[in-house]
Amino acid sequence: MHSFLSRANTLFAFTITVLAVLTTGVFVSTFFEEYRGTVSIGAVRPIVKHMTDFSANRKKNDLGVLQLTLDMDLNPLFDWNVKQLFLYLVAEYVTPANTLNQVVLWDKIVRRGEEARLSFHEIATKYYFWDDGEHLRSNNVTLSLNWNIISNAGRLMHVRANGSTSFVFPDQYITSRTASPKPSGQQ
Ligand SMILES: *[C@@H]1O[C@H](CO)[C@@H](O)[C@H](O)[C@H]1NC(C)=O
Ligand SMILES: *[C@@H]1O[C@H](CO)[C@@H](O)[C@H](O)[C@H]1NC(C)=O
Repeated sequence: MHSFLSRANTLFAFTITVLAVLTTGVFVSTFFEEYRGTVSIGAVRPIVKHMTDFSANRKKNDLGVLQLTLDMDLNPLFDWNVKQLFLYLVAEYVTPANTLNQVVLWDKIVRRGEEARLSFHEIATKYYFWDDGEHLRSNNVTLSLNWNIISNAGRLMHVRANGSTSFVFPDQYITSRTASPKPSGQQ
């Protein structure tokens, strides 16, 4: 004879099992999804300034300034397991001291239900592009977009989008104060 408690217990265990199976189902059904996508990135009017970096060593360092043009359709990424995307644009370049320097220039969160067809024309970078020395002039920089997939169940995935772009900074510093817009955010 079953007591009320043992019935409740059985029901509870059953509910947990059903939830676990459902969650696993969500996870498994998207396990092989790679969340790849193609983005078009443009680097517009790159210049280099030689300025005191008050946020770091207070020495004169190279500050790269450019505008970004971005075009992407992220709708295909939003399957039923995707809650939101964290996009970030990384600049990568080589200096004598480091084989790989990475600077995040821009980021954005796109939640499910928000506009996922994104197009930006010559926007300012969101963060400053400081080199920790004086190695931006004539340097070749590659921009690529990455996203973290924040899912309802399963892994936090990190994907580098197809479609990067490279540009070379000019070999001269810009000295005028008027030439460049400020980044829209602060680091
Ligand atoms: C810059 O680097 C990229 C990636 O390594 C390369 O494909 C490109 O040819 C380089 N551009 C120049 C002008 O050196
Ligand atoms: C990557 O992007 C290029 C240029 O937009 C496109 O031709 C190619 O099909 C894309 N590759 C993949 C795997 O999506």
